[in-house]
Amino acid sequence: MDNAERRAAIEAVKEKNIAGGKPLGVYIVTFGCQQNEADSERLRGLAHEMGYVDTDNPENAALILLNTCAIREHAELKTLSVIGGFKKCKENNPSLLIGVCGCMTAEGHRVDELRRRYPYVDFTLTPAGIGDLPKAILDRISGGRRRFYMDAPDTVLDPLPVARQGGHRAYVSIMFGCNNFCSYCIVPYVRDRERSRPSADVIREVKALINDGVKDITLLGQNVNSYRSDMDFPTLLARLDAIPGEYVLRFMTSHPKDASDALIDVIAHAVHVEPHFHLPLQSGSDSVLGRMNRRYTLEKYMSVVRKLRDVRPDIALSSDIIVGFPGETDEDFEDTMRALHTIRFDSVYSFIYSPRKGTPAAEMTDQIPAEVAGARFTRLLEEQADISRERNLPLVGKNVRVLSDGPSKTDPTVFSGRTDAGKLVHFKADASTVGKFITVHIDRAESFALHGTVISK
Ligand code: SAH
Ligand code: SF4
Ligand code: F3S
Repeated sequence: MDNAERRAAIEAVKEKNIAGGKPLGVYIVTFGCQQNEADSERLRGLAHEMGYVDTDNPENAALILLNTCAIREHAELKTLSVIGGFKKCKENNPSLLIGVCGCMTAEGHRVDELRRRYPYVDFTLTPAGIGDLPKAILDRISGGRRRFYMDAPDTVLDPLPVARQGGHRAYVSIMFGCNNFCSYCIVPYVRDRERSRPSADVIREVKALINDGVKDITLLGQNVNSYRSDMDFPTLLARLDAIPGEYVLRFMTSHPKDASDALIDVIAHAVHVEPHFHLPLQSGSDSVLGRMNRRYTLEKYMSVVRKLRDVRPDIALSSDIIVGFPGETDEDFEDTMRALHTIRFDSVYSFIYSPRKGTPAAEMTDQIPAEVAGARFTRLLEEQADISRERNLPLVGKNVRVLSDGPSKTDPTVFSGRTDAGKLVHFKADASTVGKFITVHIDRAESFALHGTVISK
């Protein structure tokens, strides 16, 4: 679909929506990673252009969009049950449109399931095809049949409108897809090969956000550091870092094989790039890393860690670990635990391996029993919690810069925010701090959060 066709579909839907007299509501549910959050902002942008207004009650919606995740079985089952919950909305309001987007809708077997068992789903759109939302809606409200778009043209690099909701924080997708085919992972199959946005587009967007007062910008990509258009990622990051203003730049997720010396050099000299690096290790065993097709060894990974800590001693490191990968022996798991104790990450996101249909690892014979994987997972969580707490302790007694996000859900007087290194901090404050950099004196450290007192706004 070219931009002129999309524009025509947007106008046609808008006209029909306006003809009804009152504005129609859109309700969007997002699962999965930040890249999906960013895609939802584009779905919302398109919906607004078609005349829909946000509603936080699905009962009042004329359009419900679910942006789905396929990374683990649990994510898919949860999504299917949420979709099931919207059945009664459709019964109460037969003109309601329900669209399912995102990674799950690029899997043939899930689309078949939606077609057969969820008759109230009107259409699906793959992550590559989200730019076809206006066409899918127009088709359906013009009397077309339910449509499950599997091979729609690639729209990810199209200039789609973005309706951000993050206030002082913003995501900027700079590349899409993945070429790495880690043997456990569904992403390359559902998000296709790597495509990068032209650097001029990215630079223009980031400058506009800074001018609008956004304070925290996260560059996104499944493999953000393999960004390559007319320039590579280190060059782009250096260009962005040179934009004047009061803001921090983050980026995720990086692949260790692309954590080049050039990138480390940019981080070493950067003014705005935060002192935080999220670098998934996945396993501390070279034999498991080999079978995962990660294309680095533990030693290669450790050399990146050493260089990062050399150039930025204040850098916080976080990682992803999978336990229970097929064939993971007790020794392999001990290698991972040893790596965690040696490296001492500030935080770790750990996952129990989940077989994904169509990936090589799902076909491996020596799958690990759930009890074994569960016990390893619990031990990893416990030991890493101690390490994370220990990594936070040196901040006690220090004054740190924090970007205030607002009150917590449970207590309106307790606010939360993040340090430049991305650490969560709780403090007493009022609404005047929101979206501002403030100085907080850290009084207490836990594994997953710091507690402090505001000393200057
Ligand atoms: N592109 C990023 C993020 C991928 S998804 C990267 O390469 O790191 C986020 C995390 O989910 C991965 O780092 C991995 O730890 C985890 N993950 C991916 N597939 C998984 C699977 N089949 N089972 C369990 N965890 C998985
Ligand atoms: Fe998945 Fe590996 Fe690509 Fe990350 S690098 S998205 S884990 S295939
Ligand atoms: Fe999930 Fe797709 Fe992100 S599978 S983790 S939403 S790339």
